[in-house]
Amino acid sequence: MSNFTATAIAHPNIAFIKYWGVCDASLHLPENGSISMNLGALETRVTVTFDSHLEQDELEINQQVVLGERFHRISEFMDVIRKLAHKKTHARIESENKFPMAAGLASSASAFAALALAGSKAIGLELDEPSLSRLARRGSGSACRSIPAGFVEWNAGTSDRSSFGSSLAGPEHWDLVDCIALVKTTEKMLSSKEGHSLAHTSPLQASRVKDAPRRLEICRNAILQKDFDSLAVISEVDSLWMHAVMMTSIPALMYWEPATIQILKAVATARNEGLSVFATVDAGPNVHVITPKSNMNEAVAMLQSLPGVIKVIVSPAGGRAYLV
Ligand code: DP6
Repeated sequence: MSNFTATAIAHPNIAFIKYWGVCDASLHLPENGSISMNLGALETRVTVTFDSHLEQDELEINQQVVLGERFHRISEFMDVIRKLAHKKTHARIESENKFPMAAGLASSASAFAALALAGSKAIGLELDEPSLSRLARRGSGSACRSIPAGFVEWNAGTSDRSSFGSSLAGPEHWDLVDCIALVKTTEKMLSSKEGHSLAHTSPLQASRVKDAPRRLEICRNAILQKDFDSLAVISEVDSLWMHAVMMTSIPALMYWEPATIQILKAVATARNEGLSVFATVDAGPNVHVITPKSNMNEAVAMLQSLPGVIKVIVSPAGGRAYLV
């Protein structure tokens, strides 16, 4: 093996039913299943080149050499790919986020999905979609949902083999858009990796996990039937329940900023006034406001009028991870 290269693109995703808490931290086996929508307007492009002259892996993100903890996480993931392929060659990895200019959007899901696809292809593995999803999961749990297209359910499973994502419906199924309200934050937030391992310290996590099959069923049916109101109610409950777990973990995790609450209240008011919108928040202060495309302009204008919002990024549902 001398020089083998591949490039892949993947989209990040926003979860309606969230993954929070792990049964196995190294395999990223989640305590509960989850459902998300890929975000077609945002993408990460990853090129992997295996080169037998390299003595160790090399990583560049947005044209900057990356070392330290981030490098080790990627290099450990490359070890998983090497082990699958029974090879020892090191690789050069170039990753680029094509996100509209603004910080604060997590990219680990799209990055590990694109890396799983480009890395496995470049080393000569031909993996089917479930196998690619399982592999992406080893890098970051939510990345397994960025492999299949559109609206994706991650079956929690109980083993490496049974835990992967599959598509419930393609991106063309429903013209929902995610209007992401970016909130200024100066504080460094705790990584989700550390957060997952604290979930069990919250007295609310066991009930959250126990109720997950019910929420998943409501969410799955709402997507299949394009029932916006049901999706809105169950997604907001799920997001708030996860944040309740975070806030009651020991130590407590508080990802929200004052502007986060301001947006959540404005979304509730807009919905009471008849606008089809709902809000969901990941492990950070930004608020994802979901609406049918026909309401997009109104939703964006409402968000832009709020003083705590620095920018609104809009994305429709996106397709599967693909090779270029
Ligand atoms: C709040 O997938 O980033 O976004 O598996 O440790 O990489 P690791 O965690 P990660 O966790 C995502 C948490 C979340 C909810 C979700 O996307 O389901």
